[in-house]
Amino acid sequence: MLHERIPNLAKLVEPDRVHRLCYTDQDIFDLEIKNIFEKTWQYCGHDTQIPKAGDFFTFQIGRQPMVMVRAEDGKIHVLYNRCAHRGVQVCGSRKGHADGALTCPYHAWRFHFDGTLESVPLEKGYRDTNFKKNDPAFSMTPAASVDIYRGFVFAKLDPSGPSLEEWMGPAKIAIDDMCDRSPVGRVEVVQPYNRVIQRSNWKFFMENQIDTVHPSVTHMAVGQSAAELERKIDRETGEHPLHYHYLSAFTTPFEKWDTLINTGYPYGHIVFSGYMGLRPTDPDTRAHEAVLTKAYGREKMEEYLSRNIHHVLLYPGVSIQSPLQQLRVLRPLAPNRTLSEIWHFRLVGAPEAIYRRALWYYNLVNSPATMINADDLENWQRGQKGLEGSGNDWVSFHRDYGRDTDDGSVITTNNGCSEAPMRSQFRAWVKFMTAEK
Ligand code: FES
Ligand SMILES: [Fe+2]
Repeated sequence: MLHERIPNLAKLVEPDRVHRLCYTDQDIFDLEIKNIFEKTWQYCGHDTQIPKAGDFFTFQIGRQPMVMVRAEDGKIHVLYNRCAHRGVQVCGSRKGHADGALTCPYHAWRFHFDGTLESVPLEKGYRDTNFKKNDPAFSMTPAASVDIYRGFVFAKLDPSGPSLEEWMGPAKIAIDDMCDRSPVGRVEVVQPYNRVIQRSNWKFFMENQIDTVHPSVTHMAVGQSAAELERKIDRETGEHPLHYHYLSAFTTPFEKWDTLINTGYPYGHIVFSGYMGLRPTDPDTRAHEAVLTKAYGREKMEEYLSRNIHHVLLYPGVSIQSPLQQLRVLRPLAPNRTLSEIWHFRLVGAPEAIYRRALWYYNLVNSPATMINADDLENWQRGQKGLEGSGNDWVSFHRDYGRDTDDGSVITTNNGCSEAPMRSQFRAWVKFMTAEK
């Protein structure tokens, strides 16, 4: 087993480099699932995905098939998607609606939306047996903890550990920043969402989100083409649509990236300061400012629209871009396979034009149809292949090492191109992976 083969897991992670096995080894992956994904708070979905009683959404936490479902009293339950009879996944589709109860397709055991057993056919056959309708062993098992923060549903399979808010800590600003941009403080999910299987380890994605050196390399061709077109439209019309900037921003030089700020927190979360200057003075933004001022007053409106955030990562698998209402969540499948769900949101009560911006970003940058995402996917796949080879055992995270501000738990860097956030993620990784329980 893992501990026999690799006696000291922490030895794989040095302060400025990590061993390639962290990305390729099946035993390490299995331990990540057990110690990280099946132990910490995991994003299930948004409550607007299941607006009515009986609506459900299926997903995985670690290796566990899960379903979140809304009950008649409005409460959201997160259950293991497993029939108490012979184990069949009760909900077979990614989303759907159940009338009155969740019914297993195999022998029609029916479960209330809180997971308890409602009925079984041929009940008389259970007379004088150990079957007991009210015994939790004959329910769909609920997740140990479920919590909802401003509509975002999280579950944790381990009953111990911090509360959701304690776990998110300062990284919960991502959800606040997104919701505060709505005059009623709420967002709603826009369906459908995209699903992409990345042929790479989940950590490639998490590191890439705060990798500020690659955009001006990997995405330079796309960025330059967009910048040229942007200038042409400018010459011809005197202005250009904001969304061209989403792509032309990839021409941002290293020097500018290097001025940004990354902060890494103890559970592995990262807050990455913004760079795109998403506060234009066009009529759409003015209209957005007006509805927020009416709802919250000028001071709050200024605060809500001026937060300097680009990405927030909720470790181990969520990336939120709050100013553009984007969320991506990872469901790791194997050391070299990761499912990502790509979502975006509408600000309830905000002008439609603000939603169109989110949609442009979703389509131009985050969706599988974009050249940005395709270029990233290729990098990660090639990275995975490279690390599966034995030419060099180490992955380098040396850039700006020693120049971070590190109080032992929070790592901050004012060098936006520093590899501090990766080092910070691995510090959390070691803690999770070597935890006793
Ligand atoms: S397996 Fe579900 S009813 Fe038999
Ligand atoms: Fe990228």
